[in-house]
Amino acid sequence: MCGIVGYVGDREAVEFLLEGLSKLEYRGYDSAGIAVYDGSVVRVEKSVGRLASLKEKIEDDMPKGCLGIGHTRWATHGRPSDRNAHPHTDCTGEFVVVHNGIIENYLALKEELIEQGHAFKSETDTEVVAHLLEAVYHGDFEAAVREVLRRIEGSYSLVFMSKKHPDRLICTKKDNPLVIGLGDGENFIASDIPAIIQRTRRTFILNDGEIAVVRKDSVDIMDRQGDPVTKKVFEVNWNAEAAEKGGYEHFMLKEIHEQPKAVRDTMSQRISKDGKEIVLEELKWTPEFLNSFNKIYIVACGTAYHAGLVGKFYIEKLARVMVEVDLASEFRYRNPIVDENTLLIVVSQSGETSDTLAALKESRRLGAKTLALTNVVGSSIAREADQVLYTWAGPEIAVASTKAYTTQLILFFMLALYMAEIKGTQTPERVRELIDLLKKIPAQISETLSDVEPIKTFARKYGFNEDVFYIGRSLDYDVALEGSLKLKEISYIHAEAYAAGELKHGTLALIVEGVPVIALATQKSVYEKTLSNIKEVKARDAVVIGIAAEGDEELQKYVDHVIKVPETDELLIPLLTVVPLQLLAYFAAITRGCDVDKPRNLAKSVTVE
Ligand code: M6R
Repeated sequence: MCGIVGYVGDREAVEFLLEGLSKLEYRGYDSAGIAVYDGSVVRVEKSVGRLASLKEKIEDDMPKGCLGIGHTRWATHGRPSDRNAHPHTDCTGEFVVVHNGIIENYLALKEELIEQGHAFKSETDTEVVAHLLEAVYHGDFEAAVREVLRRIEGSYSLVFMSKKHPDRLICTKKDNPLVIGLGDGENFIASDIPAIIQRTRRTFILNDGEIAVVRKDSVDIMDRQGDPVTKKVFEVNWNAEAAEKGGYEHFMLKEIHEQPKAVRDTMSQRISKDGKEIVLEELKWTPEFLNSFNKIYIVACGTAYHAGLVGKFYIEKLARVMVEVDLASEFRYRNPIVDENTLLIVVSQSGETSDTLAALKESRRLGAKTLALTNVVGSSIAREADQVLYTWAGPEIAVASTKAYTTQLILFFMLALYMAEIKGTQTPERVRELIDLLKKIPAQISETLSDVEPIKTFARKYGFNEDVFYIGRSLDYDVALEGSLKLKEISYIHAEAYAAGELKHGTLALIVEGVPVIALATQKSVYEKTLSNIKEVKARDAVVIGIAAEGDEELQKYVDHVIKVPETDELLIPLLTVVPLQLLAYFAAITRGCDVDKPRNLAKSVTVE
C-alpha cells in the first residue's frame, strides 16, 4: 500500500512529484522518494519518514529535469529506511521503478538474478523488478516491460523510467489502482485522482493488464500482448476543493462535517418523486432476481464491516431475509458455503481493500452473484462486482472513516427497504413513514454537529484515560463497535465495545472506579435491559456518558453525563449516534496531540493482505 506518481512534460518534474505525493500520503507515509532524469543522469533521492523529510533533504538542491517518478511508502517487505524507500534501480542506475503492491515470487526471481550477477541494495520485493528489467532489456523498452510482467506474480501498480528512453514513462497495474492525467504538452501518472486534479480533470483509469506508454504529447495504451487498447477519457467531476481540507484543521473533522451532504447526495435520486418508494435504477437485476437468493453474505473490513453489521440488521428486520456478516480477511479462508443462490455484498469505501477484493473474486469463482457498495467509481471492487451501488460521499482522505460509514448505512437502509417493497414485508404506509424519516436525517446530522462543545469538554476530561468501554444492545452495540474503533485508531486509547448484556460474562471485571463507559441507549425494544447494564457499571463506580434520543428523560438519572441526538426511528438512529462518537474520538486525539489524519501504523487504503 503506497502512492506512486510520474511526470513527463516540459516543466520541472519535481514540482508535480512532490505535490502529487503530498495528496497520496494517506496511502502510506513511512518513507518517500523521487527519481528525476536531468538529461544525463537519473538522480534518485529518498528519505525515511514523511514526505516532509524528503522535501527538507532536497530543498536546497532540487533535482532538475522534466521526466520523473515518485513514491510514498507503507512498508511490506523490508522495514522503513532510506535504503528500502522507492524508487528502486537496477545495477546500472539506468532503469528505475516505483511500485505499489507485492511481488509474490520475488525471492525466486532475486536468487536467479543474483546468480546472474545482479547486486541488490534493498530488502524489498520491488527491487527485483528493476533488475529484471535490466536483464530482459534488448533495446526495446516496451517489450522488456511486457517480459517483466510475464515473469512477476502478485499485485502491483508500477511506473518504469529509463535513462535510455527519456521521452517516456511506462506504467501498468494489476489489482492496485493507477490513473493517468492528460495535460497539455504534459502527462501525469498517479495512484489516485486527488494527486492530479490540481493539474487536469481528464484521465484514463487503467484496467488490470493494460500497459500505458506515456509521453508528453501522447498516451498509448496496449494489452499484455502489445496490441493497442482504445480507452475512453474519464472526466473527473470532483470539485478540486473537495480533496482539500476546506478550512478545517483536519480532513477527519471536515469529513465529519460533510456528512449531511454526503448522506443527502447518497439518498437523492434513489427516492421516487412522490416519496413513496425507493428506486435503485443502477441495479440492473430484476426485483425478482434480487429476491431470489437464499443466502446473503455481507463481507468487508474495519468500518465497512461495522456498516455491514447494521446492514444485516436492516435487511433482516425490513426484508426478513437471513444475512451473515463476515470479515473479509476471515471469510475466504474458511471455505464459505457459497453457490449460485448466494448474494455476496461487499462494502468498501476505497474499493481497493485487498481482502475484500479477494473475497469478492473468490465468491464469484464459486458462482455467487456480487453487489458492491463502494465510494470510488472505477475502483477495483466496483469493476469486479456484478452490480455496484455507490455511496456519493466524495473523496475520503482521513484514515479514520466517517462519512463513508454513514453513507454506507444509508445505502444499506435503502437496499433493505427496496427489498422489503418487493417482498411486501412492510406495508406501504410503513415504507412511506421510513422514507419521510430518512429524508430528515441530513438536517438531523447537522443539528447533532451544531454544538460540539460538550463533546470537546468530555474529550479533554477523559482523553488521558488509558481504557474506555463502549456498551449498547442491538443496533446500539453495532454503533458502539464503530465508536470504539474510531477512538483507538486515532487517539491510541485502548477502547473496547461490548454488547451490554455480555458484561457480566467477563468484562465487568475490568470496570473499576473512574473508567469511562460510553453507554448507548436508543433502542426502545431493549431500553430497560440496557438501563440495567448501565446500573451494573455505575455500581462499580465507572464514569458513564450516556447517548440518548431527545425526549428521553430517564437515562440522565443513572449516568454522569448525557449526549442527546434528535429523535427518529430506532432503525435510523445509528446515523445520528455515531456522530458524537466520531467527534469524541477526534477531540480525544487532539487532546493527546495525535496526528489525527495519519495515525501511526495505519494507511487509508489497505491494498495488501
Ligand atoms: O476502503 P475500505 O472501506 O475497504 O477500508 C476498510 C478499512 O480498512 C477501513 O474502514 C478502516 O477500518 C478505517 N481506517 C476505519 O476508520
